Amino acid sequence: MGFVDYNVDGQVGIITINRPKALNALNSEVLKDLEAVIDAVDLDAIRCLILTGAGQKSFVAGADIGEMSTLTKEEGEAFGKIGNDIFRKIETLPIPVIAAVNGFALGGGCEISMSCDIRLCSENAIFGQPEVGLGITPGFGGTQRLARIVGPGKAKQLIYTGRNIKAPEAYRIGLVNEVYPAEELMPQALKMAKGIAKQAPIAVRACKKAINEGLEVGMDEAIAIEEKLFGSCFETEDQKYGMAFFLDKNKEKVKEPFKNC
Ligand code: CAA
Repeated sequence: MGFVDYNVDGQVGIITINRPKALNALNSEVLKDLEAVIDAVDLDAIRCLILTGAGQKSFVAGADIGEMSTLTKEEGEAFGKIGNDIFRKIETLPIPVIAAVNGFALGGGCEISMSCDIRLCSENAIFGQPEVGLGITPGFGGTQRLARIVGPGKAKQLIYTGRNIKAPEAYRIGLVNEVYPAEELMPQALKMAKGIAKQAPIAVRACKKAINEGLEVGMDEAIAIEEKLFGSCFETEDQKYGMAFFLDKNKEKVKEPFKNC
């Protein structure tokens, strides 16, 4: 659809932001298409998503600077809200989302990757929040998520200086989970996504919810969130099957796929 492609490989959905002429920069149209694709994901069939960018050079080179250049204060705030609402939708999707960062992840590109659960990148990936050099702050969640992922000190350093960093540094500071040669990025992302899709889906969703919601509150409340979600897995078919499979000492038996119920 338009600037965003969607493909399915088994139980994995692959979302590709496809505006390579502008290095996949996010203008209003791209954001609208992205939201439509996310809304259309069949959450009964898909167990993990991969988000990537079209081409070899760029994941997403940020929000569209041309479009932003003439915005008023009110329009700027509204544009920020559009991006924030969509990125929050990605972050709170019930299923995991892996960002396969295949090149530039600048400004809104770094920000969208941070709304995903896991970031994998190619060796040529470059991350950064260069907004202060454009006279603005990060506006699609960068001030909040970068500080949560790499800690406030590193986040402040990167955001105040607007300095871009290469994949090895992004790995060293914990911004990305793994770095791969470019040609291995998608196969590795797919391998990870399929590995996640093989696990008990109700349990995987409960883990995502527990981690995300627990990080927003104090430890007493966080532990109570975990207890509820832990409890919610019991009596599911997947829990009964998963535990019975373990307890059955017949080593010849092959594990059946989980049923999501
Ligand atoms: N917005 C609009 N167009 C962009 C863009 C962006 N963020 N990034 C790249 N493009 C366009 C370029 O204008 C160029 O278009 P033309 O061919 O029509 O001239 C095309 O993509 C190719 O880009 P370059 O010629 O610049 O390619 P390069 O290899 O020389 O440089 C780059 C690559 C370093 C990524 C450079 O394009 C760049 O610095 N881009 C801007 C990065 C940036 O500042 N991002 C943050 C945006 S602000 C933001 O995202 C705010 C927020 O938090 C919501």
